[in-house]
Amino acid sequence: MPDTLTLLGLESSCDDTAAAVVRHVPGQAPVILSSVVAGQADLHAPFGGVVPEIAARAHAERLDHCVEQALDQAGVVLADLDAVAVTAGPGLIGGVLSGVMTAKALAAALGLPLVGVNHLAGHALTPRLTDGLAFPYLMLLVSGGHCQFLVVQAADRFTRLGGTIDDAPGEAFDKVAKVLGLPQPGGPAVEAEAAAGDPLRFALPRPLLDRPGCDLSFSGLKTAVLRARDGLVAAQGGLTVQDRRDLCAGFQAAVADVLAEKTRRALAASGMAVLAVAGGVAANATIRARLTAVCAAAGARCVAPPLRLCTDNAAMIAWAGIERLRLGLTDGMDLPARPRWPLDDRAAPMIGAGRKGAKA
Ligand code: KG4
Ligand code: ZN
Repeated sequence: MPDTLTLLGLESSCDDTAAAVVRHVPGQAPVILSSVVAGQADLHAPFGGVVPEIAARAHAERLDHCVEQALDQAGVVLADLDAVAVTAGPGLIGGVLSGVMTAKALAAALGLPLVGVNHLAGHALTPRLTDGLAFPYLMLLVSGGHCQFLVVQAADRFTRLGGTIDDAPGEAFDKVAKVLGLPQPGGPAVEAEAAAGDPLRFALPRPLLDRPGCDLSFSGLKTAVLRARDGLVAAQGGLTVQDRRDLCAGFQAAVADVLAEKTRRALAASGMAVLAVAGGVAANATIRARLTAVCAAAGARCVAPPLRLCTDNAAMIAWAGIERLRLGLTDGMDLPARPRWPLDDRAAPMIGAGRKGAKA
């Protein structure tokens, strides 16, 4: 295997079609030569959520173009590549298949190794790409599709400490925005409303805080917001601007409380000195501040990669591919596309698969 590795990464497991080129020289920081992400929000907006068939078709149509753009922007040609890495799950199966078939075609035509990457491993290994973190560290994934605590021990070894038993937090932000008539994606809209709201006006639940462990739940909290809204509508015929702000503030405070307490427990249980956070929800300033405070109190370092690398992208897949290749882990043309693929197969299976596919 050459010392310097230049990998093409492909990602198509949800609603972003992405291709990227990452280069790594041993002993040096890896370099993201390009990272192209073609979002599909416009295609799914009329349906109020990701439609798997529309997503799969869009991935199939756009992957070639994204690959061309990624190579162009990186200033490399196909012959410069050392391997092709691709998200092989978990995710919406049609999209994952589009990526896996594209990667197989490229690898076969170019005579290159194929590396199948678990999408969650891509997120979990990102702090090594951006911040050079050494193993082991604690990872909190909080996005529209994922919510779990992982101890990242090696590029191919993860221990799951807990995760959501129903919705992911971003999914809850999106649903709360929907019931309050706010635009999608809901997270930024709810955060903006919450800034002028009173988080104490509505008594909303803190799900699963009364139970030990690091599992989380957000579905009941979302329903509590819906009930509070319905109560106001029944009593006064609608919501005032302030009602909406207070509901958003109350919901956000509840999510922040739950994430902070579960993070405190995960740090204590794992004994890790570093917490890395990834996913769109980590963009929330209130949540970020609470997580930073929890780390400070525990004497742990808090690392949050830049947002464009925290959300779905292919640079993280190329990087995870490099890590696997350095361990000698490659795949054959029989690499399957997997809708479900837990990172830690010793952990109890998750229940529920949300709007954006399986959570693990
Ligand atoms: O990681 P991401 O871009 O995509 C996947 O879910 O795969 O995360 C998107 C999620 C959406 O649910 C969005 O509402 C949420 O992250 N989000 C936020 C904020 N910005 C994005 N949630 C809370 N506060 C935010 N500022
Ligand atoms: Zn993701």
